Amino acid sequence: MTRDRKKSDLDKFVEEVQKEIDRKEAETYSKRVIEEYRNPKNIGQMEDPDGAAKFKGPCGDTMEVYLKVEGGRIKYICFFTDGCGPSIACGSMLTQMARGRTLDGAADLSKEELIEVLGGLPDESLHCAELAVTTLRKALEDLGRDPS
Ligand code: FES
Repeated sequence: MTRDRKKSDLDKFVEEVQKEIDRKEAETYSKRVIEEYRNPKNIGQMEDPDGAAKFKGPCGDTMEVYLKVEGGRIKYICFFTDGCGPSIACGSMLTQMARGRTLDGAADLSKEELIEVLGGLPDESLHCAELAVTTLRKALEDLGRDPS
C-alpha cells in the first residue's frame, strides 16, 4: 500500500467518524444549539468588568459572566465556561439576549426563555441553561458590590 493510499484511507475514516458525530449531534441537539456551540459569540474573560460572577453548577462545571454597564443598560457582556457544548451554547445565546437590556430586563431572562430561543435542550442538559442564567444573575448582583 502506498503512502498516498494510506492517507486517503485515513481521510475516509476521519470523514466517516465526523459524519457519525454530526448525525448523533443532530439527533440530540437543535440546529441553533449546534450553531452556537460551534461558533460561540461573546466568549472570553473581561479585564475590568463592572460586575462579574463565577458559579459552579451541580454537574461541577463552572461559568463566568462579565458585564460592562452604561446608562443602566448592559453595554458589553461576555462569558467563559469549562462546561459542555450545551453550556457554551447557553452562554453564547444568553449573552446575545442580555446585551443592550436594562439591568432588570437582563435579570428577568429565564431558563425557559433561553431554552426556547435555543430550540430546546435534552433533559440532561437543562441544568446547563440554569447554570448560565444563575451566573448572569450573580454578575448583575455583583454590580452593587463595594469595590474596596
Ligand atoms: Fe456541566 Fe453542561 S454545564 S454538563
